[in-house]
Amino acid sequence: MGSQAEDQDLSRSSAAKYSLKYFENKMKVGLGTGSTAEALVQEIAARNLQNELDLTFVSTSTRTTKLADSLGLRISELSEVKHLDLVLDGTDEFDSGLSLIKGGGGALLQEKIVASSADSMKVIASISKKVDVLGKFPLPIEIIRFGWVSTLERLDNLFASSGITFNSKSMRTEDNKFYVTDEGHFIVDYSFEQIHDPYALEQLINQIVGVVECGLFVGLCDQVITGTRDGIIEVFDCDG
Ligand code: 5RP
Repeated sequence: MGSQAEDQDLSRSSAAKYSLKYFENKMKVGLGTGSTAEALVQEIAARNLQNELDLTFVSTSTRTTKLADSLGLRISELSEVKHLDLVLDGTDEFDSGLSLIKGGGGALLQEKIVASSADSMKVIASISKKVDVLGKFPLPIEIIRFGWVSTLERLDNLFASSGITFNSKSMRTEDNKFYVTDEGHFIVDYSFEQIHDPYALEQLINQIVGVVECGLFVGLCDQVITGTRDGIIEVFDCDG
């Protein structure tokens, strides 16, 4: 039996390998962010799929772009490509309705923009990301730097007045400084424990002045492909 980290690696890479079957000739594809998306990018490069299928890629982060560049993949700007056939991304959690919590890797804003520009969003993940109720993973909320303390106050007041309880919140940090996203914002992670109505919570949070986006992805993902360390694949559909 391998370590938990080894299991995660193997399950991610089996899901990533399986997801290659969704590529078709001349497709425009969004590439997600995180270790699972990176496993996918490595597979694409190793099999020379960009040239073989004449694929156009758009990236969801500087992290993914850097890796893709280093492996010889060509990345286009979303503003030039405009519309995508498919986006393949990872997730931090998913439920049976395929609502997601994303943003553990800090790229939730670009990921949501890219997913919203695609005909289909497929998520690849290890089976350990499946939950009955979203919320164990702290929900990332991307906020504008200017006046961030007031924005947090507005968020806390909103939750209090809406009867929504959270266990804790923390500003995301990196190297002892506030983490700054690719678009120059901060992230605050709220631990709710249980999110019973992800759509309602997403709408509520996104109406707050100073909030750019939150990591709830509702109605965007149409399939989740999970793998296990033994290469067993399970595909979850929107209605399944
Ligand atoms: C980045 C994300 C990632 O998809 C999410 O954090 C999952 O990452 P990993 O594949 O490393 O488990 O949302 O913003």
